[in-house]
Amino acid sequence: MKVLIVGATGMVGGEALIQCLAHPTITKVVAFLRRDLPAEVSKNPKLESVLIKDFAIWPEDVLLAHSDAAAMIWAMGTYKGSLTADLEHPVTFIESMGRVLDTKHSGAPFRFVNLGGKFVRQDQEKRLWFLEKPRKIKGLLETKALAFAESHASIWETFILKPGGILTKKMAASGGGVIGAIMGENWIVRLEELGAFMVQLAINAEGEEPIIENARIVRRGRELLESDAK
Ligand SMILES: NC(=O)c1ccc[n+]([C@@H]2O[C@H](COP(=O)([O-])OP(=O)(O)OC[C@H]3O[C@@H](n4cnc5c(N)ncnc54)[C@H](OP(=O)(O)O)[C@@H]3O)[C@@H](O)[C@H]2O)c1
Repeated sequence: MKVLIVGATGMVGGEALIQCLAHPTITKVVAFLRRDLPAEVSKNPKLESVLIKDFAIWPEDVLLAHSDAAAMIWAMGTYKGSLTADLEHPVTFIESMGRVLDTKHSGAPFRFVNLGGKFVRQDQEKRLWFLEKPRKIKGLLETKALAFAESHASIWETFILKPGGILTKKMAASGGGVIGAIMGENWIVRLEELGAFMVQLAINAEGEEPIIENARIVRRGRELLESDAK
């Protein structure tokens, strides 16, 4: 199975990439990047890196070459809110890939697995008291990505993950694990749990809702990691 990924140079995308490469069902991972990955990752034989100068343009020949992929893990994003990175780039990908799949696709719908956030809001009218800009920009993406799946149900499925705080191993080791345990599964998720669940959605998302909240990511991610460890 071939899986596409954007944002693999980032913290969450990097974790998803490593888990994709380690997963036996995934035979090929195509990472679209604007800078190189660390050498220890880029030499993996399952990985193909495609350098993209401008994520506003998705050439048809590039997408056609990967129209056999099962899914895209979209982990590009900013913390401050960027109209391009958090909205226009993913929407351009969705529309461009959708056009290609409209003529080329057969079999199960393509899965678009999007890294969102717990505090993202689709409602553009409501006043938000913190981080209004990034939360609303990403909310617009949620609305558009879900609407696209609804109007293109035979070729496209959208899954939006809404993690709360993401806990890395380093944070857990320096006391974050205790805070995470106190805050509980509605608020905090371990990076590996999130990565495992994103990869599972790319492989098989049967039974999952289009919008996935933190607690579901924690529980399913934990299950997946435990079954891998056996
Ligand atoms: N950390 C958390 O607790 C948390 C919780 C919920 C949601 N989130 C959200 O998840 C998203 C990713 O988080 P992260 O911690 O993985 O961030 P990160 O480490 O900063 O990674 C961001 C990724 O997006 C790419 N990117 C950003 N702007 C781009 C642009 N204009 N064009 C192309 N690529 C671009 C980066 O590419 P380069 O490496 O080339 O810059 C990188 O691969 C963010 O939107 C964040 O708000 C984070």
